[in-house]
Amino acid sequence: MHLFIGTAEDCDKKGALEIVNQIKNKPDTVLGLATGSTPIGMYQNLVQFYRDGKVSFSQVRTFNLDEYVGIPREHPCSYYDFMQENLFKDIDIPADHISLPDGNAPDLKQECADYEERIAGSGGIDLQVLGIGHNGHIGFNEPGTPFESVTQLVNLTQSTIQANARFFENQDQVPRQALSMGIKTIMQAGKILLFAKGADKADIIQKALQGPITPEVPASVLQLHPNLYVFVDHAAAAKL
Ligand code: GLP
Repeated sequence: MHLFIGTAEDCDKKGALEIVNQIKNKPDTVLGLATGSTPIGMYQNLVQFYRDGKVSFSQVRTFNLDEYVGIPREHPCSYYDFMQENLFKDIDIPADHISLPDGNAPDLKQECADYEERIAGSGGIDLQVLGIGHNGHIGFNEPGTPFESVTQLVNLTQSTIQANARFFENQDQVPRQALSMGIKTIMQAGKILLFAKGADKADIIQKALQGPITPEVPASVLQLHPNLYVFVDHAAAAKL
């Protein structure tokens, strides 16, 4: 594991540089991307690197970790919209290179199987960006999710619904289900970049990186990944 501890801004920049270097080495890189508040600053750095002519996304393909079930793509809280707003609209990635699971597909089970196949068909994810939930979830893989899981329909836990309510008008509006890459899908990525910021992530970061490897803390599986890069700010690193 490569552990970087710095200011939140340093984490954003270092993480973005890692991605820029990855794309320089392999212009048709397949990126796995995450939503949530944590990677926003890193995405802003990527946009800046693009504007400065340091990187092009014209050959890059992306697969997002997850998407809510049952809210339209255009909904301001959909992960599709989040990615447009925070990254895609400001870089040169072709629209048909972008994939998120479709939470409005008529057959959600089929959509999960198709998504998994589309990832494999792209050659697999070269670099996966991750945040972490307070209960250790990665993507929307809640505690108890088997390490062998692939893309699937998941029921969100009450704590995740509460945590994500800040993006919605109120808690009742938060979808109860999502489609998420599985733990196995995530672990198959060539390289993983995990980001965490803030004192409220200190406990879970300690458990994930130094605690027992158990499905009860989904992110603890990352200890088994051969190419894990962790970027944590001082507050999130306080218990390491
Ligand atoms: C959501 C997402 C995760 C994300 C997590 C943490 O539930 N599905 O991919 O890592 O929240 O979010 P934040 O970065 O806002 O703390």
